[in-house]
Amino acid sequence: MKTLRTTTIVLAIALSIQALLPPCRNIPTSLYPYKTAPGWSYVKVADGLHSPRDLIFDTQGRLLIVEKDVGISQHIVDTNGCITNTRLLIENSDLNHGICLSADEETLYASSSSSVFSWAYDPVTGNVGRSLGPVISGMATSGHTTRTIAIPPHRTDLLVVSHGSNSNIDQDTSNPKVARAIVKVFNMSITPIGGYDFVSQGWNAGFGLRNEVGLAFDGNNMLWGVENSADNFARTINGTTTDVHTDNPSEELNFLGDVTVPNDNWYGYPVCFTVWNPGELLDHVFKVGQQFVQTPTPGFNDDTCAQISVPPALSFQAHSAPLDCKFDAKFSNLFVAMHGSWNRQPPMGYKVVAVPFAQGPDGLYTPTAASWSIRGSIDVFYPPDETQCSSSTCIRPVGLAFDAAGRLYVTSDASGEVFLLLQG
Ligand SMILES: *[C@@H]1O[C@H](CO)[C@@H](O)[C@H](O)[C@H]1NC(C)=O
Ligand SMILES: *[C@@H]1O[C@H](CO)[C@@H](O)[C@H](O)[C@H]1NC(C)=O
Repeated sequence: MKTLRTTTIVLAIALSIQALLPPCRNIPTSLYPYKTAPGWSYVKVADGLHSPRDLIFDTQGRLLIVEKDVGISQHIVDTNGCITNTRLLIENSDLNHGICLSADEETLYASSSSSVFSWAYDPVTGNVGRSLGPVISGMATSGHTTRTIAIPPHRTDLLVVSHGSNSNIDQDTSNPKVARAIVKVFNMSITPIGGYDFVSQGWNAGFGLRNEVGLAFDGNNMLWGVENSADNFARTINGTTTDVHTDNPSEELNFLGDVTVPNDNWYGYPVCFTVWNPGELLDHVFKVGQQFVQTPTPGFNDDTCAQISVPPALSFQAHSAPLDCKFDAKFSNLFVAMHGSWNRQPPMGYKVVAVPFAQGPDGLYTPTAASWSIRGSIDVFYPPDETQCSSSTCIRPVGLAFDAAGRLYVTSDASGEVFLLLQG
């Protein structure tokens, strides 16, 4: 009797998981088996895409994915979340990352390294019409070349564009007028003919942001970003240089705030960086999340950072490479796609994590963990052994998108796959 009951329960659980996430027909299983946090499950929904990067849903539930060096593919999704039909919507080999739709869904935007392009989009049929030309141009073409784009939910006339540095330590970017390592905002309702010049026009949503690839708006429509910080780090004290790169500097979660007004705050790059592992920086007593300089001088040292640079709201493991972030519908978790490291041994990242958020008595949304915590996120979709990861052994998460049913989709560029993650 007992055995029978246990068997029945096990079967029921197996069936309920099965019922939630049946495998998608004609889609091979994932190249690399992954684990999920308790209560989560996943299914692979696409295979063989060409370096899938950012992705969005339109209101009809069609999935649009930027395939780097190819263009934009469009996918019909069934009630199980599986893809049943795929077509190449826009062929444009310059597109390499960013995509978004205007609030009325009549304009589709996507980015190359140098420009943000626009097309007429029919939200009923899902067809694209004529090219409406670039709305932004004049961005750099070397170094970090992805341009994440986003529209604030409360001011849908604005387009937010993130532009990384052109090298590891891009010295010139301490001047915001250089317009790299910056997030900028442009008013799409008064776009000049031929588009805005990224460098000389628009306003700032923060600068000194090395490569703020992921952008997300919270429940108060405040902008958050995740930053990829520097590689090959060393600390030089009194002429003696120490390698501190394995666990420093932190990858960052930054609060960028209200994009309807300029944010001319400096977030530290290319001078002030954030401590992840104080144990690598033994010349000074640091807390996680404090900022430091590589080479303190009498005129500019760690204390100068504390005075003039905005530190992150939360730190992540050095080199984990956060490439996207999205809030759930209740703004109780910010999901972050960690592309994974190349600049440390053993490797880290290669996973999707959740940063628990809460709304305080002041109405503001903040991570529940303190800024000095190293446990501000929870692994949601992760490899069995992160330390064995590479592009040929693990998923490399890039873009995140929730569908209307609250299912989370994640692209993996290196493996050409797309996964659906489901809680419950
Ligand atoms: C965008 O420009 C329009 C037209 O000038 C203006 O009415 C609107 O307030 C601007 N939006 C913002 C957020 O500044
Ligand atoms: C660096 O040199 C200064 C001046 O000689 C000295 O006061 C300081 O303690 C030295 N710092 C370290 C970490 O050795």
